[in-house]
Amino acid sequence: MISRKPADKKSRTAFFCQSCGHDSPKWLGKCPGCGEWNTFVEEELRETAAGGAGASGRASFSFSEAPQPIDAIDADEGDRLRTGMAEMDRVLGGGIVPGSAILVGGDPGIGKSTLLLQLLQQLASRGMKVLYITGEESARQIKLRGRRIGAEAANLFVLVEIDLDSMLRQIEAMRPQAVVVDSIQTVCSAALGSAPGSVGQVRESSERLIIQAKKTGIPVFLVGHVTKDGAIAGPKVLEHMVDTVLYFEGDGGHAFRIVRGIKNRFGPTNEIGVFEMRGDGLREVANPSAFFLAERPERAAGSVVVPSMEGTRPILIEIQSLVIPTNFGMPRRTAIGVDANRVSLLVAVLDKVCGLHLSNHDIFINVAGGVKVSEPAIDLGIVSSLASSFLDRAVAPGTAVCGEVGLAGEIRGISRADVRVREAARLGFSRCILPYTAPSQRESAAGPPAGSACQRDVASQRDQENVIILLPVRSLSELLGHLF
Ligand code: TYD
Ligand code: MG
Repeated sequence: MISRKPADKKSRTAFFCQSCGHDSPKWLGKCPGCGEWNTFVEEELRETAAGGAGASGRASFSFSEAPQPIDAIDADEGDRLRTGMAEMDRVLGGGIVPGSAILVGGDPGIGKSTLLLQLLQQLASRGMKVLYITGEESARQIKLRGRRIGAEAANLFVLVEIDLDSMLRQIEAMRPQAVVVDSIQTVCSAALGSAPGSVGQVRESSERLIIQAKKTGIPVFLVGHVTKDGAIAGPKVLEHMVDTVLYFEGDGGHAFRIVRGIKNRFGPTNEIGVFEMRGDGLREVANPSAFFLAERPERAAGSVVVPSMEGTRPILIEIQSLVIPTNFGMPRRTAIGVDANRVSLLVAVLDKVCGLHLSNHDIFINVAGGVKVSEPAIDLGIVSSLASSFLDRAVAPGTAVCGEVGLAGEIRGISRADVRVREAARLGFSRCILPYTAPSQRESAAGPPAGSACQRDVASQRDQENVIILLPVRSLSELLGHLF
């Protein structure tokens, strides 16, 4: 399949940083571009002059003949291709934009291939012709996975290929409505002498696939491997080249998976889509708050619910802490899912402002379900959870908490307070402690009757009214008064 050109006399080599793509005529120990050590690998340079237009993607690429006025350019938001998976549509900003290149990164075994096969199945089941190109598995393996997850539509085509040129030819000949390339690290251009997965190959292959997508209007999904430090393997430029970067994350110990938008030229970033990995593939989680709160202990000290914003969507998460006296030596501080520095800071504020002396206590804090949250609005949740565990008193039932905490113990305003409150009300919470500056005071929000927190059917909740009491607080001492 791959015919490597024998290195002729004219061919030159250079050294490329595998991390950022920086090139150098000689080997370097430390990359001047990104500062990484031991990342330079020798690669053969492409013959651009002799190769002509056919061999070089760049040379053959032109979007339009002449400059044109922007109001004359034809582009319609309605052109977006709905994937049929609401969670994916949300992350993509309302569907797939024709001709776009979407990079999907994630740890090995997290479910990237499953997700994209399911996505193509959704398109194929609506009569679209779609193509799944794999360089990692055999057609039989894809078929077996397809059978397991119900992806067997006649319009779903599978191509096992790693050679870039024949891949491009097949796409050109078949003209599918969407293409998945699984994965970009296995694609190999015969024009380069280096091995698949090297910086040069990844850059060349993605560039030519992206150019073809733009020219033909066929959207292309590129699966990208993730290195041990969590970056998409290959040069950072890959993320700059594509239109959309999605990360598929989650941890092996939990069934839930999150698709997170990192970059999107056609929509908001930081949107998430939540899925659950099951025996028959990924299932969309339409109501993530109920999903994350499903196993919450009632009336347990240290457990607090926080409405956190993920992109434009509020999600209720549970913060748990365990505060116990240190047996000997330095007190331990362990934070999972929240920033450990932020926890140390809040511990200091609690000590100074509220007189809760946690300095000789071990502190363990965890976001249930393995979620990671980074926004400041969870501060109040962390503080409440620590205080609750330290005092060994459970937070009053039906209470949700959100707000940012300043160093003087003041509670600061947060974004989208109304949306957060509505989500808490929807899940049956009856009280929400929030910053005083939050715009609305007492409000009634659409949601199920109080106490139906397990209610999972979103559609039926629209016309019901649920009253939630808002408890605005200015300081930590007011907070403690409301909590217990
Ligand atoms: P896969 O899509 O192959 O991951 P990736 O392409 O990101 O490497 O998914 C592999 C994992 O998903 C594997 O550990 C088994 C699990 N899985 C299920 O739990 N249910 C399923 O229906 C499928 C297809 C996979
Ligand atoms: Mg895979």
